[in-house]
Amino acid sequence: MSHSPVHRAGDSPIQVDLVEGETYTWCACGRSNSQPFCDGSHQGTGIDPVVFVAEKSGSVWLCMCKQTGTPPLCDGSHNKKKVE
Ligand code: FES
Repeated sequence: MSHSPVHRAGDSPIQVDLVEGETYTWCACGRSNSQPFCDGSHQGTGIDPVVFVAEKSGSVWLCMCKQTGTPPLCDGSHNKKKVE
């Protein structure tokens, strides 16, 4: 049984307002205290945040369970059964 270094930061996605052209850093490790964004807590985990530029202004659902296949966006993975 492998132990995932990724933590669930939440059980449902979080809606955030993005501004077109702005750069965001999505927390991939689940340890940040500034969810859904990275605060540097991933240090030493071997996990890097996902840096992205908003293509348009508006709200999006960012993944909080950190299991999404389409980071940083929610793909519904939080509803899937947790396999450990
Ligand atoms: Fe989680 Fe940086 S704190 S990726």
